[in-house]
Amino acid sequence: MKRRNFVQGTLGVGAFALVAQKVWAMPMHGAKHDMAAMDHSQHGMAMGKSTALMPLEKMPSGLPLAALPVLRNESRQSGVFKATITAGETTLTLADRKPTKMWLYNGQVPGPQIVVNEGDTLEIRFKNNLPQPTTLHWHGLPVPADQDGHPMEPVEPGSERIYRFTLAKDCAGTYWYHPHPHELVSEQVAKGLAGSLVVRSKTDPLAHLTEQHWLISDLRLDADASIPRNTMLDWMNGREGQFVLINGQLNPKISLQGNERIRIWNACAARYLRLHIPNCQLVIVGTDGGLLEQPLAAQDDILLAPAERVEVVVLTNKAGTYSLLNRYYDRSKMMVKDQPIDSQLASVSIANKRSELPTKLRSIKALIAPVAYKNIEFSEVMDHSNGMGMSHLKQMFRVNGKVFDMDRIDETSQEGVVEQWRVFNNSHMDHPFHIHGTQFQVVSRILNKREVAEPYVAWKDTINLKPYETIIFNVVHHGKGMRMYHCHILEHETLGMMANLNVV
Ligand code: C2O
Ligand code: CU
Ligand code: CU
Repeated sequence: MKRRNFVQGTLGVGAFALVAQKVWAMPMHGAKHDMAAMDHSQHGMAMGKSTALMPLEKMPSGLPLAALPVLRNESRQSGVFKATITAGETTLTLADRKPTKMWLYNGQVPGPQIVVNEGDTLEIRFKNNLPQPTTLHWHGLPVPADQDGHPMEPVEPGSERIYRFTLAKDCAGTYWYHPHPHELVSEQVAKGLAGSLVVRSKTDPLAHLTEQHWLISDLRLDADASIPRNTMLDWMNGREGQFVLINGQLNPKISLQGNERIRIWNACAARYLRLHIPNCQLVIVGTDGGLLEQPLAAQDDILLAPAERVEVVVLTNKAGTYSLLNRYYDRSKMMVKDQPIDSQLASVSIANKRSELPTKLRSIKALIAPVAYKNIEFSEVMDHSNGMGMSHLKQMFRVNGKVFDMDRIDETSQEGVVEQWRVFNNSHMDHPFHIHGTQFQVVSRILNKREVAEPYVAWKDTINLKPYETIIFNVVHHGKGMRMYHCHILEHETLGMMANLNVV
């Protein structure tokens, strides 16, 4: 185990609480040593003051859920998907009839959905009309490293590039794309940049089910409808907007037949979703990387950490209209005590039609017999010598004791071989781990010294780690080049809870 001894030491919860009180006692508004004033936003990592928020009732809500708009394929050639995506500023009226400047893909919230088939070649002309560099990252997809939007390859303001890659034959699943520039991800996603991508299989055992897509994101608007900068607490805990949107809509009306396949994305920067519908059972049939081998036993709720996806069938014995709830989940935030309340994300009217689900969905070849091992540790390090400003926060969230450095290679892996990774969350807060360019199979989880074998095989690229939890997974890397792994609370990632993996 590659554990470092930190000079500063990692604080335990007790010590943390002490600091918390002190900092909390410092006024967040207008103080002389206002943290907001410390860094300025050309780096995208500035800190804002907490301002009055737009009240929830000021955003129109309650409309029927609209399907995600799909990006039109401009190619006539079969097996080729060609389109243009432009990232740029768009002004929308979302709440209180006031204009909001957003950064969007093709002017849409969320970005247009890309629907392709296994084995297809994608050619996306990407134009950057933002005032900052950006990239397109294909979250979860096994695309070549130089097409995967690594921050080393920024698309500068006013310029464009083509992302071109051919999908593997067996990658049907639920993915998404979002920006990945150096130190700017939090800001760019907060302003609206994210879109979904679905890879279909020609031999889909659930092709007979109709499909719904619920892309869940959140948005913060202040009282004048603009998107405020992150506060100190946002940088610490991850930013959560007060508006939780499904396909860009607030509290939509969903109607379900009871035999539909629902793909759900948690596209929030930091918000955890614990989805529950009273009187309904949730049957998971797929994860980040597509279908499971068989449907799981029905569940009462489903936890989705930021960036996770799931495919679900919702069943009921009692047709009716219910709330889709986000149940309270305690992810042990610093310096704040959330109200432990459930919130309504949508209303769902559900019929009790059912169609039998096949007992076998597909077979997944288990990754076994690893030939190389890696130990990864997430930690939070407190060093108050710089006070509690941005420079302090930029040192706080670490991977194997280090803050991200674009020019440093943290780990090296060989392509095409099975590796076993042990990822340890040596901190008191939940962090979702994510790796680029591949997906893994969880083998077991260790919490409180108890190791529990994962009960089923599934493809995942993002997995939540509870405080002091270890996740052990097997993985194979595809294609040489620089990959990354990081916490997918985007503020932590932006602050440097991220590392480079060179695949050779
Ligand atoms: Cu979804 Cu490195 O990101
Ligand atoms: Cu990713
Ligand atoms: Cu984190």
